[in-house]
Amino acid sequence: MDQVEGMLGTSPSIHAIFGLIHKMAKTDLPVLVTGETGTGKDVTAQAIHARSPRGEGPFVPINCGAIPETLLESELFGHERGAFTGAVHQKKGKLEAAAGGTVFLDEVGDLLPVLQVKLLRFLQQGTFERVGGHETLRVDARIIAATNVDLKAAIDRNRFREDLYYRLGVMHIHLPPLRDRGQDTLLLALHFLKQAADVQRKPLRGFTPEALNALCAYRWPGNVRELSNRVRRAVVMAEGMEITPQDLDLTGEVLQSTDSLDSLRAAHRRIEVELIAKAISLHRGNVTRAARDLDVSRTTLYRKLLEYGLERSLPSAALRPAS
Ligand SMILES: Nc1ncnc2c1ncn2[C@@H]1O[C@H](COP(=O)(O)OP(=O)(O)O)[C@@H](O)[C@H]1O
Ligand SMILES: [Mg+2]
Repeated sequence: MDQVEGMLGTSPSIHAIFGLIHKMAKTDLPVLVTGETGTGKDVTAQAIHARSPRGEGPFVPINCGAIPETLLESELFGHERGAFTGAVHQKKGKLEAAAGGTVFLDEVGDLLPVLQVKLLRFLQQGTFERVGGHETLRVDARIIAATNVDLKAAIDRNRFREDLYYRLGVMHIHLPPLRDRGQDTLLLALHFLKQAADVQRKPLRGFTPEALNALCAYRWPGNVRELSNRVRRAVVMAEGMEITPQDLDLTGEVLQSTDSLDSLRAAHRRIEVELIAKAISLHRGNVTRAARDLDVSRTTLYRKLLEYGLERSLPSAALRPAS
């Protein structure tokens, strides 16, 4: 029940996130989503919105880091005619455009102090004025904000208001980096491989054992986005039937040291997922053959595929009940 569309993962840490998304979708309170780049902050914000009672309403993203500071205020709050040179018409801002829905303030750490004040007031009172306007406006829009910078550090440097931080972060979701999500890396790699191979119409069987090892050992600084990009690129580059570390461009990378010990259970899961993923990709989704290779029954293999969420990496025909 804890699945979230567009987000895959079976690791305990991502499951905890799915649970939070469900809970936070039920309220109107602001949410702060944090995490390294590529961990899924956008998809998380969209998922919260989509599952909320506002799901039918607009989802309006605005990137606070990408819009010139001088324009951001008017982008967000709108402006009145004549508010500044070039303001020939009155314009509604994103906040008004999101009435009945959600505004997604991406890179909220880049918001200038004056706008932080204005946002804080909106969060506290639900009111604001357009740039150059005197009329106090009220709009029913939920705020979800995201950042990959450490807002606590920004507060210490007086770059971010502490009161705004606490107001925004009433509910906080911190997305774990991909390297802390265990078997999810392989699950996602297979998913992206299947997707890209379908698009490119390339009959790829899967990853070589060396490539699987490289996928597991790499640190993934760009997280899910990097994984998706590398796999897509590898599918284009691949000359053989299987993707190699060279195709993934993961040969010269510094590999994660494994000086911390897995628990036995975690190690067991990791090895099981790795072997199952390998067998499934080797037999291109043929569960009967994969089960034979792994020396387990089809039923056992199905159960494990479901348990690890690997069934999503199978062609849909392979999931029909055993005949
Ligand atoms: N759990 C996930 N399952 C599948 N795809 C994901 C997942 N998390 C992120 N992605 C994909 O990875 C890419 C980066 O996600 P995004 O939400 O833009 O990250 P961020 O905003 O944190 O940089 C997107 O293409 C997104 O669809
Ligand atoms: Mg993003």
